[in-house]
Amino acid sequence: MKDTIRQLIQQALTRLTEQGVLPEGLSPTIQVENTKDKAHGDFASNIAMMLAKPAGMKPRDLAEKLIAALPVDAQISKAEIAGPGFLNFFQNSTALAGRLEAALADPHLGVHKNGSRQKTVVDLSSPNLAKEMHVGHLRSTIIGDAVARVLEFIGDEVIRQNHVGDWGTQFGMLLAYLEENPACAESELTDLEQFYRAAKKRFDDSADFAVRARELVVRLQSGDAQCLHLWRRFNEISLSHCQEVYDRLGVKLTQADVRGESAYNDDLPSIVQDLHEQGLLVESDGARCVFMDEFKNAEGNPLPVIVQKAGGGYLYATTDLAAMRYRSQTLAADRVLYFVDQRQALHFQMVFALARRAGFVGQNVQLEHMGFGTMNGADGRPFKTRDGGTVKLIDLLDEAEQRAYALVKDKNPELDETELRQIAHAVGIGAVKYADLSKHRTSDYSFNFEQMLSFEGNTAPYLLYAYTRVASIFRKLGREIGDTEGSMLLEAEQEQALAARLAQFGEVLGSVADKGLPHLLCTYLYDLAGLFSSFYEHCPILAATEPTRQQSRLKLAALTGQTLKQGLELLGLEPLERM
Ligand code: ARG
Repeated sequence: MKDTIRQLIQQALTRLTEQGVLPEGLSPTIQVENTKDKAHGDFASNIAMMLAKPAGMKPRDLAEKLIAALPVDAQISKAEIAGPGFLNFFQNSTALAGRLEAALADPHLGVHKNGSRQKTVVDLSSPNLAKEMHVGHLRSTIIGDAVARVLEFIGDEVIRQNHVGDWGTQFGMLLAYLEENPACAESELTDLEQFYRAAKKRFDDSADFAVRARELVVRLQSGDAQCLHLWRRFNEISLSHCQEVYDRLGVKLTQADVRGESAYNDDLPSIVQDLHEQGLLVESDGARCVFMDEFKNAEGNPLPVIVQKAGGGYLYATTDLAAMRYRSQTLAADRVLYFVDQRQALHFQMVFALARRAGFVGQNVQLEHMGFGTMNGADGRPFKTRDGGTVKLIDLLDEAEQRAYALVKDKNPELDETELRQIAHAVGIGAVKYADLSKHRTSDYSFNFEQMLSFEGNTAPYLLYAYTRVASIFRKLGREIGDTEGSMLLEAEQEQALAARLAQFGEVLGSVADKGLPHLLCTYLYDLAGLFSSFYEHCPILAATEPTRQQSRLKLAALTGQTLKQGLELLGLEPLERM
């Protein structure tokens, strides 16, 4: 709809230019927004205010001329001037109903990409395998998953890359411990956290052990078969822990998406060599670095990207350069999105700039760091266990499901055990995910079980419940959602408001995909659920006496149901038919 209005305005501008009212050579970006207050129509544009100065006219005078020059369009019932010179557009409700009927008949709910299909690499989750996944990995995993799903739904090709930390000095310590305790492998590794702590303790307490650990890193990096064997076993176990978390979370990640740091190991010398040949390398205290003018510290001194340490070892940044080259050149990505903690913002700015300068990525490839804030505890400080340790993600999910189980059982004691467990799973995991996804990605937030499990407010239980209400209307009629006939008539104010919001689904998904902000979809679904409530209250469906009216309202309910369901699925939640 916004595109249609933009085109209409463009045509009006062209007409006014031909008539000599506007000077030649103006090519403004035409902005069209959704209005907040329906008294101002459905869409508004500030174009007259933007062009008033170059046109040498008063904004309201120009607005008047624009309205007179607008071509007639079946989708717009009227256009008028408001305030200092806004153009307000009212959509034609017959045309709107027609579009929604088409969306209801379409398995893709009328959402289709107008631009070309892009290939997008999504770098998500990416935990370090030396330790168990903790709450810090939740955000990258689920925000990345939601955005990847939305990208796929609107028609992009998505390649998920789980850039796990499976290489580096900690592995020497772990291998030394494994070597010392060959029998521990199977049992102790079921708790990697404990294993890591035990190895670290040995490392700190024993100088011999530390020497051995360092030797093993060198041997591992030079491809020693026995070391590689131990290392592989360790990673397999660690990855299977991760997979357990992914499955539990209902995140679309498998072992096929894993391409860890070690996969780039053989590429690192050529990255450094290439930088050297391009004259970009500078030696500083034996380390090999690149300095770029645009990166300076607070004192104004240049900041380096270190690509090789004095001892010859490579760094996190070197691996990221190799990964960028692979994603651009081998995977042929148009866009690469990094769902990584905001605290790594400077790292990404620097490696992005360097990768471009060195030609590791094509000029047309978009590199975007989708940084996120910290998940805090109730005290506003990073989430910790009572004794100050990191919280294992799997423990957090267990607790969420237990709490949800108690809640659901309390509300609905007659449910049988299997269904109860299934609902508790969807509600508990959904609550954790939704609480996170519904906050602006870049802000910090406080983790709060009571809040996220509440059936009121912008929460998973509220939205899951909203969907079951729609499902139950159809169940009472003995029909599938979507099984409707007749046509949609938008009579009541509540019907119009719901319809107008339903028509924005595609646009909202487009913004989620462009900006990597799933909270926009959460806000939209929450709004939709609220609009549905007022519609349902004012416009009886099952009790409607006139059949055409009942059919029409059923259609609106069906599209609301499908949109809620699809939206929840795109966020990675599991919609339930009843709860
Ligand atoms: N393993 C890193 C960490 O836990 C995150 C990796 C993110 N991805 C990347 N390409 N650097 O901090």
